[in-house]
Amino acid sequence: MSQTGLFISFEGIDGSGKSTQARLLEDRLRALNHDVIATREPGGSPGAEEIRALVLQGDPDRWSAETELLLFTAARRDHLERTIRPALDAGKVVICDRFADSTRMYQGLSRGDLRAQVDKLHALMIGIEPDVTILIDMDPETGLRRAKSRNTVEERFEDFGQDLQVAMRNGFLSLADEFKDRFRVIDGAQPPDSVAEDVWAAISPHLK
Ligand code: TYD
Repeated sequence: MSQTGLFISFEGIDGSGKSTQARLLEDRLRALNHDVIATREPGGSPGAEEIRALVLQGDPDRWSAETELLLFTAARRDHLERTIRPALDAGKVVICDRFADSTRMYQGLSRGDLRAQVDKLHALMIGIEPDVTILIDMDPETGLRRAKSRNTVEERFEDFGQDLQVAMRNGFLSLADEFKDRFRVIDGAQPPDSVAEDVWAAISPHLK
């Protein structure tokens, strides 16, 4: 766990609106003069951004599920060493768009049952969880429509379709239950301002 800073992650299915909410929280904290860094996964450091291109662009089937898990974990390790850990040690608020819970879901669930390997690798190589994880819960049909409408080169996981989105949503809700003390589940179907208010209510008690 973080020593001095505050480590916040946002999770949710593709198109849940979590990136927008992460940005709104960042703006609000900055306006209150908090020292904030906003980052994302996969990526968030130069090396991890290089790995991001490997996992999210090109033919996804060139990686086995296990290799993909190693790549995401390698990216996270670099991100942790170069970006997250130094910021937390300096007492900053770190807002991370996706973290290890995404690996528990996407690699742990989608291409076979790799959850045990995900957890072992996490314990071995990462060993830190966010202080607070905001799960933006969203109806998959709406989420998928939103994700598709963005039309980026990074289609990798968004192409999985609706059945997987449903499994992901349920998976994230189970994860929230498994890690009750750090997860806050927020209804993403509300107007963005209301979602942002719920996020604020979940985060503000943790601020120094
Ligand atoms: P991204 O392009 O940042 O979009 P979104 O706004 O949906 O988060 O998402 C990156 C994709 O990578 C997303 O489909 C989830 C996936 N992912 C994993 O499969 N494993 C991971 O560990 C992480 C962090 C992301």
